[in-house]
Amino acid sequence: MCRAPDRLRIDSGGDQFIVSGASPRLSWRLPRTATGQPGYELEATVDGTVLDRVTRTSGSHLFVPWPWAPLRSCERVTWRVRVRGDRGFSDWSEPNCFEVGLLDEDWTARWISPVEGADEGYGMRPAYSLSARFELPTGVRSARLYATALGVYEVFVNGRRAGSAELTPGSTSYDRTLYAQAMDVTDSLRQGSNRLEVLLSDGWYRGKTGGFRLPSGWGTTTAARLELHLWYDDSTRSVIRSGADWTSSRSMITRADLMDGQVLDLGQHAEDAVPVLVDQVVAPGIDWSPAPPVRRIESRPPVSLREVATGSWIADFGQNASGWISLADLGPAGTRTIIDYGEFAGTDGDLTTAHLDMFLTGSPPIVFVQRDEVVSDGDGAVFEPRHTVHGFQYARLRREGAGIDPASVTMQVVHSDLEPTATFECGNADLNRLHDAAVWSFRGNAVDVPTDCPTRERLGWTGDYQVFATTAARLYDVHGFSRKWLRSVRDDQLPDGRIANFSPDGRRTKLMDPGERLARTTGSAGWGDAIVAVPLVLYETYGDREVLAENWDAMVRWVDWALEAARTHHDPSRTGLRPHERFIWDGTYHWGEWCEPGGARESDKGEVGTAYLYRSCATLARIAEVLGRSAEAARYGEVAKQVQAAWRTEFLDESGWMRSDTQAGYVRALAFGLVPDELRAGAVRRLVELLRAAGNHLGTGFLSTGELLPVLADHGYADVAYRLLFQRTPPSWLAMLDRGATTIWEEWEGIDDDGNPHASLNHYSKGAVVHFLHTHVVGLRQAEGSVGWESFVVAPVPHPDIPWARGSFESPQGTIEVEWQDDGDTFQLTVDVPPCSVAVVVFPDGQRATLTPGHFSTNRPAPTGKVFR
Ligand code: BGC
Repeated sequence: MCRAPDRLRIDSGGDQFIVSGASPRLSWRLPRTATGQPGYELEATVDGTVLDRVTRTSGSHLFVPWPWAPLRSCERVTWRVRVRGDRGFSDWSEPNCFEVGLLDEDWTARWISPVEGADEGYGMRPAYSLSARFELPTGVRSARLYATALGVYEVFVNGRRAGSAELTPGSTSYDRTLYAQAMDVTDSLRQGSNRLEVLLSDGWYRGKTGGFRLPSGWGTTTAARLELHLWYDDSTRSVIRSGADWTSSRSMITRADLMDGQVLDLGQHAEDAVPVLVDQVVAPGIDWSPAPPVRRIESRPPVSLREVATGSWIADFGQNASGWISLADLGPAGTRTIIDYGEFAGTDGDLTTAHLDMFLTGSPPIVFVQRDEVVSDGDGAVFEPRHTVHGFQYARLRREGAGIDPASVTMQVVHSDLEPTATFECGNADLNRLHDAAVWSFRGNAVDVPTDCPTRERLGWTGDYQVFATTAARLYDVHGFSRKWLRSVRDDQLPDGRIANFSPDGRRTKLMDPGERLARTTGSAGWGDAIVAVPLVLYETYGDREVLAENWDAMVRWVDWALEAARTHHDPSRTGLRPHERFIWDGTYHWGEWCEPGGARESDKGEVGTAYLYRSCATLARIAEVLGRSAEAARYGEVAKQVQAAWRTEFLDESGWMRSDTQAGYVRALAFGLVPDELRAGAVRRLVELLRAAGNHLGTGFLSTGELLPVLADHGYADVAYRLLFQRTPPSWLAMLDRGATTIWEEWEGIDDDGNPHASLNHYSKGAVVHFLHTHVVGLRQAEGSVGWESFVVAPVPHPDIPWARGSFESPQGTIEVEWQDDGDTFQLTVDVPPCSVAVVVFPDGQRATLTPGHFSTNRPAPTGKVFR
């Protein structure tokens, strides 16, 4: 064996460099020639000291626990690996480097807080500048700045921005979790006098949260904490720390809120700086995030900039996304530019955001606003509002007395810098566009945590990620991103075991009076079940068993709460309870299927609740087995059977028809394995009848849409699945595209027949359909029960309107590539199988072949059209 392992990585985030805690886990990709799980040798140097070589005779190449003594703060590590094959060792891999962050116990800097005047109120507060000067001798070899905040911060070293991460320290449940950032600032320092400045605003910590824009309740005082560590040529070291010698003043950012927007007044005169307040906050220990940072990912010029009224221009960026605009031309000194952001422009060409307003009975409407303002000092500055973030395709710029140069306006797309892991392309332009729209929807909702929409609420709603996690894990490497979010879900869990509706939960439901509206609506099936479903997706996709272990307690508490809720609470319509009804979960709050076309149904809540109760119990049993918890595996396995039996008694008749008789109900039941084998055909037939009765229109909502097409295709109704996929009248995906969607809508008719917008135009849940494009159109899916993609299936389901398709996936074992072409006579297929993987190909005619690592290519007679009855 001569090829070397590659793609070495640790399970940590970082910006300019990867930053770990004390014991990172190591992963690598095996050489193409590897077979089985070969033994390996690891070598590392820590701050130049070579550690003892570690040799293992076998073992996984994924998430290998740190085999040496725990690392210490600021250490710099280089490691490499070689693997042992039948004919000896491979070459050594290229080295991988990372640094250890400043570990919590080693922080000595003090928390510093701004001196604030009278409170302007939520959404109205300025960003503060906290700064200090310090002298440096010559001979600084290297400098690392470690920083964090309760609020959102940016740091500047001698006026130069440190690092490229945005919206730091990110969104976490700040009472329990706080991450810091490490920055290389060596090149920004100089001999003599230097200045460190932090711009600090409310951010997720103390700003507005959710659709009702209520105050986030993590704390009342913002604060920052920084240490600048300097290493000198003579091997000495010194540290500059935040502390009482720093000063505070209002900055030129006179208002900053993540939801409302930001105001920058460049003409504002600097006020006198006063000493900062010190150690005014209580904060959790500092940790290092497993997730990649939020960054500016892409810049897009407007596709048009039109003056719609005197002094009012609409910029259309052609794509709904999250971020902000940068404006390079601010006009003469004193010119004020007001920028409103939104997802929709009406027939008059002007921006409208009324579809995002929120209404709460008994309160005035919450008018949706995302507004930035900038006042020019005539000095050529570029405006970029980095203490806020917006969901938008359009920006309205208003300015009096000066024009706007279109070339000066740019959309900055801002979100978590996730690594793409899949490609998809096929010979059907509509499907390619649909795929793009779903990818953009996920991008727009991946701003440090998975959110519902980047506009109205921006909350990490658990149900949304529960339905989308599998798709997200196909499109991007979401391992660290999701682990970070799950930590928040655990942080926010209520004392009784319920999972908060969204996490991070700035409203702090766990501390609420149980009678409060949000507390009353907490604990819904399909939402709370994210704590069971998402870790399983991560385990299956990435092979990380630890994700199951770290979420185990939280998932058990959730499922136990749900079982108890089913036992003790019943829908008032139930009287004279029969024994199975102790497993029917319909007596506590459920969101239900949610967002079905034509409005939410009230009657299906027990069906949804009980179905999820079954799935979560069954999943818990499976997870218990993986974790070697055999008693729990047996217990939850048994309970799952009882819930399944109860569901059947309550909701299914002897011909496979369901009492609720909705499309969503059948899809869920079939996808979750609730229907006994002998009744499956009847249940699918009924689903197909319902679809045909609706003129080949789907009627599913939030929870089951992603499962609809796979359920149909896997039960012999690929023709029906494709008819829905290609349906052009609403409700359908292509109707969204035909009406101009560039991201997936929250409601099926997000833009109605009259062209009016409704609800959010960027919600990813219904975009889970693109998983089908990978699993059925390209045909690449992970084999049932496979972990880390060691085993997969290639089973394309061709359609006359899709002459070819190709896709790839960066699996933990290596790159998988699939491509097929159907010219009517010949069906050509090529597959690349990475090392340590096995693939089964199922040809459209039903024939099978087993593939081992390597390149595979075949030509067969084209399918005869049997699939399309
Ligand atoms: C959000 C959803 C969320 C739901 C709860 C909505 O307002 O936008 O995405 O899951 O509430 O049903």
